[in-house]
Amino acid sequence: MASGRDEANKLAAEYFRQLGEAGETEIYLPSVPGRADAPKAHSTVKTSDVAATPEAPDVTATPEAPDVTAAPEAPDVTATPEAPDVPTVEIVKVKLAFSREATTGDMFAGSTGLETCTTLEQVEARSVGCQNCELAGGRTNVVFGAGNPNARLMFIGEAPGRDEDIQGIPFVGRSGQLLNKILEAAGIERDDVYIANIIKCRPPNNRTPLTNEIEACLPYLGRQVALIAPRVICTLGLPATQTLLGIRGSMGSLRGKMYVEGNVKVIPTYHPAAALRDPKYKRPIWDDIQLIKREYVKA
Ligand code: URA
Repeated sequence: MASGRDEANKLAAEYFRQLGEAGETEIYLPSVPGRADAPKAHSTVKTSDVAATPEAPDVTATPEAPDVTAAPEAPDVTATPEAPDVPTVEIVKVKLAFSREATTGDMFAGSTGLETCTTLEQVEARSVGCQNCELAGGRTNVVFGAGNPNARLMFIGEAPGRDEDIQGIPFVGRSGQLLNKILEAAGIERDDVYIANIIKCRPPNNRTPLTNEIEACLPYLGRQVALIAPRVICTLGLPATQTLLGIRGSMGSLRGKMYVEGNVKVIPTYHPAAALRDPKYKRPIWDDIQLIKREYVKA
């Protein structure tokens, strides 16, 4: 029988897992050789700077439409397919994970051979037999990605969960259903976008991906992004955001800005799982989706 101490440890572990999922902690970042600010591999718990905000449309309410009645000041999501009017946001110039690694020669120096793949199908075929990290042993399916191979908008999440592992498709579980509702409310067709994760295999008990797992898997995502060539990338949650941007910080400090490299814009937001756990994340997610929609319509 589990002791009281074991129970307390389990509860604490689950608490920190949930904080990490919500982006309330700095967790890790794949190492960026040569960077003076390369973060440590272990977490430092940090209070988020998420400000209290007015109610966002309740995108968890129904499958058909968001409940916008609760928030008189909330945007009219039924209005038009045009670009929403979004306040000016700070633009930050970055080097995304893929070009960072290309210049350091660490991950894309030809060792993966993925650069010879000229279609997503070829990259996926290579990923199916991947044994580059220990997650290979526990997977049912490699969850490569799904959607429009020519998408102008790409969503990048954290890792497959149980449902995704079973079906081999990203974002089909509860988080995926919420993502579908958010997209629908924003007037974005899921079939028009491409959805993938920073790692392709499910971590045990849905734990946060480890740095070595992200590093092992990143070449697949790099090749996916290169072939799809999206103009706008939305990172969902802290692991995906920190991995792509190479910038430390909580989701509260990283979101609400647009990160640009060349003609690619990265707009981070909280993972939908955060909004499933705590409604306070609905409003910032909704605001970020408005910005994403505006840039997507322009792209
Ligand atoms: N959460 C993710 O980050 N990705 C999925 O595919 C499903 C849940």
